[in-house]
Amino acid sequence: MDLLEQLKKLEKQIEKEINEAQDVQRLNEIRITYLGKKGEITHILRGLKDVSLEERPKIGSYANQVRDKVSNLISDKTNTIKKSDLNKKLLKETIDVTLPGRPFHNGHLHVIQKIIDEIEEIFLGLGYDIVDGYEVEDEKHNFTLLNIPKDHPARDMQDTFYLENGYLLRTQTSANQSRDLENHDFNKGPLKMLTPGKVYRRDTDDATHSHQFHQIEGLVVDHNITMSDLKGTLTIVTHALFGNDLSVRFRPSYFPFTEPSIEVDVTCFNCHGKGCSICKNTGWIETLGAGMVHPNVLEMSGIDSNIYQGFAFGLGPDRFAMLKYGINDIRTLYTNDIRFLNQFN
Ligand code: PHE
Repeated sequence: MDLLEQLKKLEKQIEKEINEAQDVQRLNEIRITYLGKKGEITHILRGLKDVSLEERPKIGSYANQVRDKVSNLISDKTNTIKKSDLNKKLLKETIDVTLPGRPFHNGHLHVIQKIIDEIEEIFLGLGYDIVDGYEVEDEKHNFTLLNIPKDHPARDMQDTFYLENGYLLRTQTSANQSRDLENHDFNKGPLKMLTPGKVYRRDTDDATHSHQFHQIEGLVVDHNITMSDLKGTLTIVTHALFGNDLSVRFRPSYFPFTEPSIEVDVTCFNCHGKGCSICKNTGWIETLGAGMVHPNVLEMSGIDSNIYQGFAFGLGPDRFAMLKYGINDIRTLYTNDIRFLNQFN
């Protein structure tokens, strides 16, 4: 067979092999087999020197043609395979963005905490410090220093949980009044503090009573503090919480550690004073107890009541939450039913 025939046969053979090749590796093998240093086409090109002079250009140019063609076919097919491999891979790795996500459960603040935060915000704006007290207190701070000596009937009203070591679970955040009075350095300025927290009383739990609830205590002591400062402060706060269009009413009351003492009512937000079930047909809702700090309380904490006067108030965020959201049973605030709590997200 002459060399030209041989080349044509080889050309067909290589084309067939390229067509049948399935992957890049096989195409590389074909390249090496035919175009490599020891490849068949290379071999033919090298053998041209033995071909007669008339035949040489014809065969030479044909062999070059075949080499170029084969080389092109291999690189074209390599590209096609690489492209389709990539497409397959991309197809396999696609993320189906239309799949619905898994629900992510975000926590949120308890409704009582929200009310406390709201009230703290108002008092921070009035220049008060927010301070923490102790939930486990001694009798001295919870009662005695608040002008409630051992035999005082006011102790009965706050019958509470006593611990074996003589301490007790505080019955009122007022316990922190005496601590702050003891600790405050009046050379640094007036005492203005707000202290929120849990309190405990041995109550029988019902829709409006819980053995554990919250209070927020406020205390201001400085020179020349009068009842009008107290009234002004409480008016600002109730308006900020319940709205400017509601009226505030002050009633005389009694607490052992304030003199005079008052209770503060606000127009019922539900019936606007007409009378409804929420305000028990009075048109008013009781919101807090307050008064001018009793001179005995100041003196017992070592403060001269001729020089300093003050006011104190105590409000119940549980009560506020119930009023604000129409919650009719205080126990629901503490039983942690997620269906109830999620309403306040
Ligand atoms: N501590 C009182 C109570 O629990 C409320 C109160 C606080 C009254 C401060 C006057 C001043 O009933």
